[in-house]
Amino acid sequence: MKFPKLWILFLLLLVTIQSKLALGAKAQYSSKQAYVTLLYGDEFLLGVRVLGKSIRDTGSTKDMVVLVSDGVSDYAKKLLEADGWIVENISLLVNPNQVRPKWFWGVYTKLKIFNMTNYKKVVYLDAGTIVVKSIEDLLNVKFCANLKHSERLNSGVMVVEPSEAVFNDMMSKVNTLPSYTGGDQGFLNSYYSDFPNAHVFDPNIPQEVSKV
Ligand SMILES: *[C@@H]1O[C@H](CO)[C@@H](O)[C@H](O)[C@H]1NC(C)=O
Ligand SMILES: *[C@@H]1O[C@H](CO)[C@@H](O)[C@H](O)[C@H]1NC(C)=O
Repeated sequence: MKFPKLWILFLLLLVTIQSKLALGAKAQYSSKQAYVTLLYGDEFLLGVRVLGKSIRDTGSTKDMVVLVSDGVSDYAKKLLEADGWIVENISLLVNPNQVRPKWFWGVYTKLKIFNMTNYKKVVYLDAGTIVVKSIEDLLNVKFCANLKHSERLNSGVMVVEPSEAVFNDMMSKVNTLPSYTGGDQGFLNSYYSDFPNAHVFDPNIPQEVSKV
């Protein structure tokens, strides 16, 4: 019976071709995980460049994406591209809070990282942070953030699994959920209100267990 064997071979070939096609379609994004930061204006340009260098210094080859708003000059975008950043133009998300520090006007924009569904996982880092050693262990968790004063999450460094559903849900709640900071961090603390009870990240725990 030679016939069935040929069929299996043919099917295998088809599967191989299809998976190659699928890979090709995603070529715009070279990896499914990325480091992400936000730049609202040229003042923090140096901070983002230093952050990028610190990420590359750890040996990471993952995508580095900088979300830039209108305030960022073309000159700054060119420099960042030359540094290896993928530059994405975004519009600001309006901060719905009337009571807030003045410089918090655009910080809700950070929630857009939850909408980066081209990636399976993103590590968000504030432009003021640097990476001192490889943090790629972080990419194994579903959602992760620093605990601040052991009861609030700090949104300066976060690991996020982007999801259109979560993002849309957040967008439907930005005007109603309270924010103790008047910014995105307070909002996220309301949104993830059981965060203080979540698992503490431990790189030695298998992925399945550490999912929050
Ligand atoms: C981003 O905006 C700049 C103008 O500031 C424009 O030149 C560039 O093409 C835009 N990039 C994308 C990917 O839309
Ligand atoms: C979220 O992502 C989708 C798909 O990429 C896009 O069409 C939409 O404009 C994004 N929403 C916001 C508020 O940026």
